[in-house]
Parts: sequence; C-alpha cells; structure tokens
Amino acid sequence: MRIEEFHALARAGRPGWSGEAAAKARSFLGPSGPKPVLVWLEFNACSGDTISMLNATQPGLGQVLSELVAAAYWNGLMPAEGEAALAALMSAVERGGYFLAVEGAVPLRQGGLYAVPFIAGGRPAPAIEVFKAAEAGAAQIIAVGTCAAFGGPSAARPNPSDSRGVWEITNRPVINVSGCPINPDWVVGTLVHLILFGPPELDRYRRPVFLYGNTIHAHCQRRSYYDLGRFAGELGGAECMFSQGCMGPITGADCPYRLWNDHLNWPVKAGTPCIGCTKSGFPDKSSPFYTPLPQKLRAGLKGEGSDA
Ligand code: SF4
Ligand code: F3S
Repeated sequence: MRIEEFHALARAGRPGWSGEAAAKARSFLGPSGPKPVLVWLEFNACSGDTISMLNATQPGLGQVLSELVAAAYWNGLMPAEGEAALAALMSAVERGGYFLAVEGAVPLRQGGLYAVPFIAGGRPAPAIEVFKAAEAGAAQIIAVGTCAAFGGPSAARPNPSDSRGVWEITNRPVINVSGCPINPDWVVGTLVHLILFGPPELDRYRRPVFLYGNTIHAHCQRRSYYDLGRFAGELGGAECMFSQGCMGPITGADCPYRLWNDHLNWPVKAGTPCIGCTKSGFPDKSSPFYTPLPQKLRAGLKGEGSDA
C-alpha cells in the first residue's frame, strides 16, 4: 500500500477504513513475524480512552492485539496484576523499542502524587517517574486522548494537581491523538501508519494531519443549514447547531465521516453541538458548552484559533 492510498482511504468516509489499512499492515508484518510491542500507561484520566478502544470495530480490539501489536502492558485490560503486571512492564522497558501510548495527563504538584499507577519497591511510583522511566526506551510516544495530549479535563481550571500534557514534560517526539475520548479508529490508524510508513505528518498541535487536518464544519452534514442561516432553536433540533454552541468551525477532526459507536453516529447527527473535544484548550476554551461561539469569543476564548 502506498501512503497516498492510505490517506485516500482515511478520507473516503467509508466505515472500516482502518480495517482495510490494518489488513495491509498485517500482511506487511507477516503471519509469524514479530509484531511491534505496545506499552499503554494510564495516569490522570477517566479510562475513557481505554473504554473507547474496546469499541473498536473493523478491526476489533482483539484483532488489533493479536495481529497488529503485542501489548506488553496495559493496566486497564491485561489479566496480570500486582507484581506480575509490574514485572511485565519492567521487562518491556528493559528491552525497549516499543510504542508507548500514554492515556491521561501527568500531574506535577507534590512530587506527582496525584497519580500513582502502582507501588514499586514498597513506595508509590508517581506518574511522572513512571513516564520518565518508560520514555527512554520508546520507539515512539503516542499521547492518547486530550488529557495526555494537552492536559484536557485533568488540567481544567484551577488545575489543582498541576496536570500537564505529555509534550510539556518530554523532549522526545510525541504524536498527539487527541479527543475526549479518542475515536478508536484514530489510534488504530496511527498505529497502522507507524507500522507501514513511520510517523505521520503532524499539524502544529502534533496531531496526524490525515485525521485532524479538516474542521468538523468542512464536512458536516448540516453545513447547508449553516450556509442558509437556519439554526436549531434547541438541542435535538434538525438544523445547524451553531446556535447551540457548536465548535465545529474551529475544531479539527473527521467525526462527520469517521463516525462513532461502530461507525454509526456522531455528535451533530445526534442533535448536539461539537464541543471541540480534540482541541488544545478543551474544556476551558469550549466553555460554556451551549453558548454560541461569538459569545464564547467575547467571554474570553480570544486567541483560540481554528485547528485547520
Ligand atoms: Fe458547522 Fe456545527 Fe453547523 Fe455543522 S452543526 S454546520 S459543524 S456549525
Ligand atoms: Fe469531539 Fe466534536 Fe467530534 S466534540 S467527538 S470533535 S464532533
């Protein structure tokens, strides 16, 4: 598969595009060849990204984990726990060369004690220490979800734990796969891109352009209502959601054709506005959620530009 074909598939708006691309990656890896190792760490987060990954289809998460990557550590999903889980993580870190997926922000206040993934050697291991131990051996760091990418809800005002996005605490290259939560296709697509072509082209927020390069507004099915000036009078209305606080005009993501829940629906089609969950300023700069964008801008969103 050429990179142009991969990007065309991503733009085609066909459910299961990542399934087709993943099949190419599987044949590239070969049936018995070694698969890239995945280490998935969770810090200040709600586990929403792990839960969203359980909703992956075409391919399903089982296929991803059996045919595309070998998960050495994923605290939310692995059967091992306690010492055995820790040993699996240590062993992967010693070998190195893994994709390091980070879910959740990294808190820095009080030595990072607001997020303690586990106890090691009889003492709490704060997220910042765990990340620093794991980053050196990573072939690629992927920040999964808006908390890991930009701080997200974990860093929302007044951010009492001083939570940060991963790119703020490392000098290593980071791919930000933002979203609250992520669409599973965005993670699978990024993994496939890494396997087949290496790191994707990134935008100024270090997000893959093939996923976040267009605004929601550019492909929204209600765009004709917007152009005609016909706006919904309430949530659930049939017309454009701009009147209900839609951030689609300045939010980069492919939700209108990527779709969610087994490629079934997305926020605007369900009658709610896009609240800009992939943006670097989410949720503070999307608030108040159901207030039209011009009023949000007047209330202090200034400087929050368009993603794409
Ligand atoms: Fe744009 Fe939102 Fe209206 Fe869709 S609902 S046309 S994204 S403003
Ligand atoms: Fe998020 Fe907007 Fe898509 S809120 S899920 S980027 S439609």
